[in-house]
Amino acid sequence: MHQVIKPKILYFGTPVVLISTLNEDGSTNLAPMSSAWWLNDSCMLGMSNRSQTVRNILREGRCVLNLPSAELVTAVDRLALTTGREDVPDDKAQMGYVYEPSKFEVAGLSATPGEPGWPDRVAECPVQMHAALEEARDFSSPHLAALELRIVQTWMDDSILNSERRHHVDPDKWRPLIMSFTEFYGLGAQLHPSRLAQVF
Ligand SMILES: Cc1cc2nc3c(=O)[nH]c(=O)nc-3n(C[C@H](O)[C@H](O)[C@H](O)COP(=O)(O)O)c2cc1C
Repeated sequence: MHQVIKPKILYFGTPVVLISTLNEDGSTNLAPMSSAWWLNDSCMLGMSNRSQTVRNILREGRCVLNLPSAELVTAVDRLALTTGREDVPDDKAQMGYVYEPSKFEVAGLSATPGEPGWPDRVAECPVQMHAALEEARDFSSPHLAALELRIVQTWMDDSILNSERRHHVDPDKWRPLIMSFTEFYGLGAQLHPSRLAQVF
């Protein structure tokens, strides 16, 4: 029996992304988010435009998308309820958010120094992507932004690559951290051979 309900949120389970962006002083801000998906070499992000991250992306036109594996869950959780905005927005302050200028230290993560003009990458994340902003628009409300990005360079750790085909990720080795209805999960084992995989 299905119930008609008014769901408070619709976060059905998406990979967590740690986004690094350049602050105005050239330091790197780091923020967790999970409203993200990819198609070809493009990515869509949904994020509050009151975040330091969106401000930095709109100003600089670029960011790094670092994808943590499930084993990095405690580091990611340490970043929850922090913002790189010194003037913490009122609604966030009421929820307990605090200004944190040193996100890498707080999370216990290491910074791989950025390429010239790019923010630092998260050394522990098996997937790291340079992304350039293509388009930004409001999404659902004036407080939320939909950002379309183009992936311009990708780093993958050896540990997740297919041993025979080095430009392919092995899904049996890639263990993403998933956020579902604001809780953290990992993925289970493969369920069934995929017919789509045969044609890719
Ligand atoms: C696991 C996780 C997932 C999150 N997903 C999103 C998201 O998809 N969109 C968003 O606007 N905020 C999301 N947040 C909240 C942001 O991290 C929060 O707004 C943070 O203050 C942004 O940091 P910044 O202000 O330094 O950019 C998420 C937080 C956590 C811990």
